[in-house]
Amino acid sequence: MVIGTKKTVEVVTHSPEETIAFGRELAGDLQPPCLVLLKGELGSGKTTLAKGIVAGLGAAREEEVTSPSFTLVHEYGGDRKVFHVDLYRIEESRELATLGLEELWSEDAMVIVEWGEKLWDNAPAPRVIIQMEYTSSEERHITVERPSA
Ligand SMILES: Nc1ncnc2c1ncn2[C@@H]1O[C@H](COP(=O)(O)OP(=O)(O)OP(=O)(O)O)[C@@H](O)[C@H]1O
Ligand SMILES: [Mg+2]
Repeated sequence: MVIGTKKTVEVVTHSPEETIAFGRELAGDLQPPCLVLLKGELGSGKTTLAKGIVAGLGAAREEEVTSPSFTLVHEYGGDRKVFHVDLYRIEESRELATLGLEELWSEDAMVIVEWGEKLWDNAPAPRVIIQMEYTSSEERHITVERPSA
């Protein structure tokens, strides 16, 4: 358990491998259906953390988890689905309608969204919000915020 009963958790990782390992641990705290919003600038490690989360959920091997920046949505898993979404290319909330995200919410699934801030208000609560910050070439500051409900 990484989060346990805490409201927020902050960690610093020193390599991509450490970020993946943290994602794997974090997966143990996530109960589908669940929406995970990943925020943070380009290269801050959102996809790297997603690899760990998806692998930790047992939905795919970490090397199978790649950035959905072109296809926008990747689907992993069997009975328990994990959707990995990247909204980098979305410029306004109107464009979200073309992605069919409502269908993802309605499944009993885990949905991990890179550039999660671009969902604006078009997403259900509760959500886990993860802010990633680039602090040096190999160091990332990660803040995980649990839903308050
Ligand atoms: N501690 C670290 N945690 C995560 N990634 C790291 C770390 N140190 C270095 N890196 C490198 O930083 C890059 C992070 O890229 P990644 O694709 O995960 O970021 P991203 O936030 O998804 O970017 P984008 O906004 O383009 O989708 C990778 O090249 C990774 O190897
Ligand atoms: Mg990415």
